Amino acid sequence: MHQIKAVFNGNFDYIENIKVSPFSRAYTFSDSVYEVIPFYNKKSISLESHIERLQRSVDALSINLDLKIVTTEINQLLSSSSFDNGYIYYQVTRGEDLIRSHMHSDQMKTETFGYITPCSFETKRLNVMICEDIRWGRCDIKSTSLLANVLNMNNAKLHDCDEVIMHKHGILTEAGASNLFFIKDNNVCTPALSNNILPGITRSILIDALSDKGIKVFEGDFNHLELKTATSAWLTSSTKGIAPIENIVNIDNSLSLDDSLYISCKEIFDSKFFG
Ligand code: PDD
Repeated sequence: MHQIKAVFNGNFDYIENIKVSPFSRAYTFSDSVYEVIPFYNKKSISLESHIERLQRSVDALSINLDLKIVTTEINQLLSSSSFDNGYIYYQVTRGEDLIRSHMHSDQMKTETFGYITPCSFETKRLNVMICEDIRWGRCDIKSTSLLANVLNMNNAKLHDCDEVIMHKHGILTEAGASNLFFIKDNNVCTPALSNNILPGITRSILIDALSDKGIKVFEGDFNHLELKTATSAWLTSSTKGIAPIENIVNIDNSLSLDDSLYISCKEIFDSKFFG
């Protein structure tokens, strides 16, 4: 008995009672998108932004979805749970397709699935590895097709790393499951949004919070070798918050966790994110 609270196609139940068809297109084609919504002290963080991004994802796949119902289900998972801090995973799939065809039928019934789980948001110092970004051309869509991320991150795990920093033809994109920031020449820098990057909600929370305090974030195209001379670097995501990078194992670098600008950024972020 896992006793994980979940909702599948509008029905609330424990996870072990949910039955998913092997013809679900999430299963056969990864024809699905998702969100991870953090909550702290029983309050969701930036739920509207996650819902807006989910809308963009389903629009990109032409999947029908009633976002009002999704919001209600997410709030219901939260209110029925005893966890103080954690996140809600919510997945939207094109539906069950009894003919396994790349071209889907137009009469599909959208399949939805959400569950709630605790998360401590502990700040962990990360070891990371730089690697080639081998993903597809629409990483701005929060798709469940994460095979390239899985391959890269498990290769990094073999080298005792917690995450990867990816680059496409030398230009930094993002991490395997988070966005990248670094400080160079006393400037806070992050790769600019493009089709190659997920527009992270945590990324935008940080950029807005820093801007409110008069700290500009430089968004642009940065070469991965620029990380050699960065004074600090960190990753952002809904489950990590801000996680500092202690070491990049496959380049010479002099990252420090004592960088005063990094410490200010983390303080500003934490007070915004955790309230
Ligand atoms: N991952 N980039 C990628 C590839 C991600 O998978 C994520 C999040 C982010 C950060 O996005 P946000 O700040 O909105 O969480 C960036 C989630 C947490 C996951 O897949 O579990």
